[in-house]
Amino acid sequence: MATTVTNSVSSLVQSLGEIPPDAVIFGRSEAMHAVRERLGKLASANVPVLIEGESGTGKDIIARLIHGLSPWKSGPYVKVNCPAIPGTLLESELFGYEKGAFTGAVGSKPGRVELAHRGTLFLDEISELDLSLQSKLLQLLQDGQFCRIGAQEDKKVEVRVVCATNRKLEVEIESGSFRQDLFYRINVVNLHLPALRERRSDIPDLVEYFLEYYNRKYNCKARSLSLELMTTLQKYHWPGNIRELENLIKRYVILGTEDVISGDLVAREPEYFNPDINFDGPISLKKLTKQAVRELERKIILRVLQANHWNRKQAARALNISYRALLYKIRDAGLPSNRAARRPEAGPNQPAAAD
Ligand SMILES: Nc1ncnc2c1ncn2[C@@H]1O[C@H](COP(=O)(O)OP(=O)(O)OP(=O)(O)O)[C@@H](O)[C@H]1O
Ligand SMILES: [Mg+2]
Repeated sequence: MATTVTNSVSSLVQSLGEIPPDAVIFGRSEAMHAVRERLGKLASANVPVLIEGESGTGKDIIARLIHGLSPWKSGPYVKVNCPAIPGTLLESELFGYEKGAFTGAVGSKPGRVELAHRGTLFLDEISELDLSLQSKLLQLLQDGQFCRIGAQEDKKVEVRVVCATNRKLEVEIESGSFRQDLFYRINVVNLHLPALRERRSDIPDLVEYFLEYYNRKYNCKARSLSLELMTTLQKYHWPGNIRELENLIKRYVILGTEDVISGDLVAREPEYFNPDINFDGPISLKKLTKQAVRELERKIILRVLQANHWNRKQAARALNISYRALLYKIRDAGLPSNRAARRPEAGPNQPAAAD
């Protein structure tokens, strides 16, 4: 099952051809294995799907994939970015209007719901839909019927509704801004996309993919990343998820040196130190504190290395530890090599500079 999905994925997204990159990388993590399995099962069933995940985790790309793997793949794929359309316009955008329905309605116009007939309607950031539109959407999901603004009669459509959110809808329900009955309707099948820090083992596959993709796209020849840098990438917090990783690799391909990435990550250090607390399960204070101390040590070493122009012997003296201990700590913390930081003109696979 899993292989079938992956194989069809690249040809499918290529044929859609609208958003780069032209494939979905699932990687080898358990979290994404579960997503792929679920995707294989749900794609062929005409039921609403709710995609949840932080910003940049791939909700858009997965929504397209669901459409492309569905029996309605030759039908329309219509996306509505709810927060991008002002509240007053959203109703007419979604459901359309009849001539004379409001000032300026000189003709009638179908809404995106109608345009998605026999295809997929993707409602992005569904939590932004206001309560009156939520009830119209509920009707659509219950019996496939809706009413254009100013129309006397309901219309009927067949659409597969896929919604996405990066907020917890349960919290929105608690605060009264999202209807619980609508939540049950859109959440028939739920697909949770893990944050990149929850699928660190996929980082090498993603890096390789973006490297190849942007090398081809920009006609560049950027080399594979060094092991040290890959280790740093695997330890980083990735608040912007895959989008952040993709942009980092794009910059590397265009500018051509690893220090571009190392420098970027160093500049983002405050984010790196956000404690990664998972409130869904038990919280281990001991583990989190140990992690924080390690990260603090890493930061101190990095600062001292920078202050000593990456001369590791000098840095070891400044830190009052042995040279060997410093080398061990640098490796253990996945810090960029001295080469990356000291020789911006060197290519990624040049030999390291000596102290
Ligand atoms: N599994 C993946 N394989 C390859 N590229 C991916 C993958 N997931 C995401 N991307 C890329 O990362 C970027 C962000 O993905 P996408 O726009 O789908 O995220 P999103 O969850 O919809 O983010 P937002 O909440 O900000 O809208 C895109 O360029 C997308 O092509
Ligand atoms: Mg999106």
